[in-house]
Amino acid sequence: MTRYEQLANTMAAQIRSGSLAVGARMPSLRQVIAQHGVSQSTVFRAYYLLEEWGLIRAQERSGYYVARGAAVARNHAQSQPRTPAAPAKVDISDLVFSVLEAAKHPGIVPLGSAFPSPLLFPLQRLAKSLGQSARFVSPWNSVADLPPGNETLRSQIALRYLRMGIAQPLDEIVVTNGALEALNLCLMAVTRPGDVVAIESPGFYAALQAIERLDLRAVEIPVDPRTGLDLDALAHALQTYPVRACWLMTNFQNPTGVTLAVEKKKALVELLAQHDVPLIEDDVYGELHFQADYPLPARAFDNRGMVMHCSSFSKTLAPGYRVGWVAAGKFADKVQKLKLMTTLSSSIPVQAGIADYLQHGGYDRHLHKLRAALLAQRGDMEAAIRRWMPDGVKWARPEGGYFVWLEFADPIDAMELHRLAIEQRISVAPGPMFSAARAFENCVRLNFGHPWSAKIDDALRVLGELVRRTVTPARR
Ligand SMILES: Cc1ncc(COP(=O)(O)O)c(C=O)c1O
Repeated sequence: MTRYEQLANTMAAQIRSGSLAVGARMPSLRQVIAQHGVSQSTVFRAYYLLEEWGLIRAQERSGYYVARGAAVARNHAQSQPRTPAAPAKVDISDLVFSVLEAAKHPGIVPLGSAFPSPLLFPLQRLAKSLGQSARFVSPWNSVADLPPGNETLRSQIALRYLRMGIAQPLDEIVVTNGALEALNLCLMAVTRPGDVVAIESPGFYAALQAIERLDLRAVEIPVDPRTGLDLDALAHALQTYPVRACWLMTNFQNPTGVTLAVEKKKALVELLAQHDVPLIEDDVYGELHFQADYPLPARAFDNRGMVMHCSSFSKTLAPGYRVGWVAAGKFADKVQKLKLMTTLSSSIPVQAGIADYLQHGGYDRHLHKLRAALLAQRGDMEAAIRRWMPDGVKWARPEGGYFVWLEFADPIDAMELHRLAIEQRISVAPGPMFSAARAFENCVRLNFGHPWSAKIDDALRVLGELVRRTVTPARR
């Protein structure tokens, strides 16, 4: 097969799997060249071929679009296995940075934010713990708390695993600067440049950025907002490509909010074990469950040390403190060394402060209140969506966390929506941020982690109007 035929096949699979939605603009020449490392003429020939196959159509002076009727329409209830597209390089950082930058201005309604409101955190009580431990921390701790990290903190973390029924060895827990460092260190521990990593689509943009930075290639596995990761597609990817690692969320996935059923989590661990592929499990929202118990992570079903379970206190207690961890299984030693080589250690007084809070500050009481607030805000958000968004909008109710993923019935341009919304001082997280192929153009992620107010409700009203304006006649 020639290079352009290969490229056309890859893109055809993306269209058929729905990761490039009907009506979506095809990636630009520059994006395809950067992602696939091919020449301009290869892209042109691939696009001509896709056009011949009836999968895309050219629109004058505007580019190529996925043709109506080209793909199996994306459907939440879809059950047939979808074939993941071939692994590709990732080039997403500029898009992500521009969206995050635009959303930073004070006074903006933070519907696109990744954080809940600081008003929901016990900052005073935490400051007391921090002050106390800073005053009493022994100078010797600057050595004792080097990686794997403060022992009291790690014991408190291990206790929380125990409450889930997981006997987590203390020496496998490495304290990090937030979950993001944990995830990045894990990825570094198990890959080398050029390796293939399986990630979710849509999925957390930091996974895409890490893959881009480490010069890896991503194979994107579809995530259904109701049922979660497509395990058949993952099995297919594992058989077809030399996948070195998998980076996934099994609880309250970002951006869809979906949680995998227990049986699926077990099957996932088994499937990866069959292929000897480590799982980097991102579980930063696990504590924010609306049902009675913490939904067990995939880590609970692993007895081979192949799951690296990453989390943090950023979403539940102390966003700015940057304290996270990984229970790294058999990779703990490697992760610990990488931590030493990159950032040496996490802040010692801050580790001690969080440890003190976990021991004496009433973390469980706080979590109880936080979950209740988020649950109430989910109700407010759903009511506002029903009130203000166009008919036919779909979302799957998240059972934890603080994100809702909207899919509009008419094709819209989420990037244009983001731009118009910023002009109105409202941020949203547009769908294309969450995939290497910049798909999900008619999706946005909204944050309900802020106490409900008339201002937020009004922002939803404005957003509804902008969504209607963003459906362009050419793409109806
Ligand atoms: C899914 C997911 N994982 C990891 C992180 C990063 O967590 P931390 O702030 O602890 O580094 C975030 C933050 O937005 C996230 O949404």
